[in-house]
Amino acid sequence: MSPQWCSFGAQGLAKAAEQVDPAAPLLLFDSGVGGLSVLAEIRKLLPDAPVIYAADLAGLPYGNKSEAEIAARVCGLLGRMAERFRPRLICIACNTASTIALAMVREVLEVPIVGTVPAIKPAAEISHRGVIGLLGTAATIRQGYVDRLEAEFASDKLLLRHAAPELVTAAEAVLRGQVVDANVFQRAADGLRSQPGGADIDTVVLACTHFPLVQAQLAEAFGGKVTFVDGAAGIARRIGVLTQGQTFRRSHSDFALFTGKHDPFSELAPAFERLSINRSLVL
Ligand code: DGL
Repeated sequence: MSPQWCSFGAQGLAKAAEQVDPAAPLLLFDSGVGGLSVLAEIRKLLPDAPVIYAADLAGLPYGNKSEAEIAARVCGLLGRMAERFRPRLICIACNTASTIALAMVREVLEVPIVGTVPAIKPAAEISHRGVIGLLGTAATIRQGYVDRLEAEFASDKLLLRHAAPELVTAAEAVLRGQVVDANVFQRAADGLRSQPGGADIDTVVLACTHFPLVQAQLAEAFGGKVTFVDGAAGIARRIGVLTQGQTFRRSHSDFALFTGKHDPFSELAPAFERLSINRSLVL
């Protein structure tokens, strides 16, 4: 491990604004295309910020992996990427990776890290009936991190959780222009509605960054009677705060970075180009 990033106990504090190279990128990391839902919000708030979008497609899906496997993978990959690309900040645009590995990554990398936290707090603030659904990966919904958010922000609410791994596959397919069977979305909605109290759900937390990419299909499956909440806009605001005063120089430097043997950029080009990423690299 290089001393550049293997600094145990480092807090990853932001450098003084004038010390930051204007071309230093924000590095967004997810197992797949889910983090594009976060990138969309970052583009709105910080249109000039240089970005590397990293997708660990060789490791997708994270949701059915063990905690140990996810933590080792995310720490290892982010370490290599931080050393090679020198980002000014890393955003783990993945609920599964964040709820499991955020603290560990912060321990070992000397760069500010922003994670993705299931949006239970904002959901609890807007739920009228006090029944909230949470859709995530199997790995996310079993985390103590989620139990703690529930205890802190929704202890007077009923929080129903459902693992919807099919939605990850569906979002990956939709962004590749493929048609997805509507039953996939209906099964996710039914997984929440069929639980005791589920008929009263009025707010649904999309606790996986892939899911806002298929929100329209989910809205149809829920029959339009719920409000969806996700963390993307809040993450963008947090990045805005942590990079306040820094200058950005983009100069067409942005790219997608994929793990694996094959470069899927041509299949995903429309989704990336909409967010001004026009080239790719395989790690
Ligand atoms: N996008 C990831 C998340 O936010 C998960 C997808 C996966 O299972 O890899 O949890």
